[in-house]
Amino acid sequence: MCGIVGYIGAEEGKDILIEGLRRLEYRGYDSAGIAMLGADSKLHIVRCQGKLNGLECKLREEPVSGNVGVAHTRWATHGRPSEENAHPHRSGPFALVHNGIIENYAVLKQELESQGHSFTSQTDTEVIVKLLDREWQRTGDYWEAVRSTLGKLKGSYALVIVNEQEPDQLIAAKKESPLILGFTDSAYFLASDVPAILPYTRKVVYLNDEELVFINRHGYRIESVVDGKERVHEPHWVDWNPVMAEKAGYKHFMLKEIYEQPRAVIDTFRSVIDLERKQIRFAELNLDRDLLNRIKKVCLVACGTSYHAALVAKYMIEALCRVPVEVDLASEFRSRDPVLDESVLLVVISQSGETADTRAALKEGIDKGAQCRAIVNVVGSSIARMAHGVIYTHAGPEIGVASTKAFTTQLVALYLLALHWAAETGRQSVEAIEQYIQDLVELPGKMEKVLGDAEKIGIWARKYMHYKDFLYLARGPLYPIALEGALKLKEISYIHAEGYAAGEMKHGPIALIDEDMPVMVLLKQGPLFEKMISNVQEVKARDGQVLTLIEGEPGDSGGLNDGEFVIPPSSDWLSPVLFSLPLQLFAYHVAVLRGTDVDQPRNLAKSVTVE
Ligand code: AGP
Repeated sequence: MCGIVGYIGAEEGKDILIEGLRRLEYRGYDSAGIAMLGADSKLHIVRCQGKLNGLECKLREEPVSGNVGVAHTRWATHGRPSEENAHPHRSGPFALVHNGIIENYAVLKQELESQGHSFTSQTDTEVIVKLLDREWQRTGDYWEAVRSTLGKLKGSYALVIVNEQEPDQLIAAKKESPLILGFTDSAYFLASDVPAILPYTRKVVYLNDEELVFINRHGYRIESVVDGKERVHEPHWVDWNPVMAEKAGYKHFMLKEIYEQPRAVIDTFRSVIDLERKQIRFAELNLDRDLLNRIKKVCLVACGTSYHAALVAKYMIEALCRVPVEVDLASEFRSRDPVLDESVLLVVISQSGETADTRAALKEGIDKGAQCRAIVNVVGSSIARMAHGVIYTHAGPEIGVASTKAFTTQLVALYLLALHWAAETGRQSVEAIEQYIQDLVELPGKMEKVLGDAEKIGIWARKYMHYKDFLYLARGPLYPIALEGALKLKEISYIHAEGYAAGEMKHGPIALIDEDMPVMVLLKQGPLFEKMISNVQEVKARDGQVLTLIEGEPGDSGGLNDGEFVIPPSSDWLSPVLFSLPLQLFAYHVAVLRGTDVDQPRNLAKSVTVE
């Protein structure tokens, strides 16, 4: 996610802003910038693609100083990483930084262009500052122009505005993206996260959604964007140490990222769904009806956790779009001389967008003339740039080596691809598509519920942390989640774990079952439920221990198990997201109890850029 720092006070602000960005670097970014009101009462803006060192180099050539300003590190969501797309963005007397996704930016941009406004970037953020400039010219009132601008925005934002005609003011607003206000007796700070301001103050006010704050050198006023009424919040005293602060108070990045998943899923589907019209619009996929109607086969290719997302998508796409889907590990696909041509849609999936085997698989597809698309989490990554079209997950930077929020947002992106395909080709009715979209809109709430019940998973972890082997069993679209759960456990706790299609038990794995081989079983209501119950009985009959994740009501597994965790009901295609969460938490808690390096497990890298 982007990082924002704002400052107004009596001291020189440049170093405060740059140091603040450094303390937000863990959030991940691909460009940075700063805007300061100089002694000449003019706005001075310096931006650069890349890391903060590059910005500091530029600042040595183009120095800025002053005691009012904003700074920003950008994690690209709209528009590639570049200096033109870096924040702050300017229009008229305003410089603005933003974190979030403006869903209706394209419509607003068209309106502004039709009124003669020109744009220099591909970002949704530049639309905000152009809109503000237009509203200010229309109303002649700065505060009113800010209120009017925010009223036209749909989506999420944390933004800070500097106005060279109001050198003693900062204005900020928040909706769904993080923004805090910190202050001392003589200075006011705005930041995306606590670490940026800890060196200066521990007194903070956490802004609520749809709140606006007007700040000058002597105080601030918070008001509601909705009704304009003043809001008063008690300041908090932050007692985190700097290391804790980087993880927003979580012990590990992985745990933070597990709990960020509902937000990441919302950001991912809101970047492509018009919730009012219940329509899906991919900005950069380049996959229209004509093309889709010519596709005879889909190849989904990835590595590791991303491969498990591809396995789930096979069930989804074949069921909803009625087109054959092959799924391959990238390392195998690239070396088996696959049969590809223009009638094949190759979709590669990669969080980092840099995995060597996946890049090679994509190149194989490009060289053989397939239609090639990518689902990635990093804007401007190699794979994103190589493919003929891309769907971005909006998980934000994933720091923990074990992939969690990237995985669940990949599942959502693949679900959206399947719905887009089914809608474009008429394989599903308008009503069915609207229901599938409604199922997705309800998903984050169910995710929050699962994450809220996590205490039981910690109890399981304490009971089973010393076992040497685990078996994960499931059927249908949950089978890949058994594989994913086993991968999570093995890669961060170093316990041997295998995921298996439960129907295969009699074909071998049942020989493994005894009291020393705990079995995690995933049960979903539906045609496969009874078969899964039979598998549980087989395991219990051989003194195996069974931990059950079950969709339904407590006790639905008939007391056959040694532990039961209830999952809220959802569709076949979204239940994999819900079942993933307790498996991520189980692996996490076992690893913490076993004292492994959860965020940096031995021998692993976050992105395998070498073969
Ligand atoms: C997932 O927990 C692992 N860290 C690993 O399997 C990862 O999914 C795999 O290396 C693929 O990475 P990518 O999605 O960045 O291509």
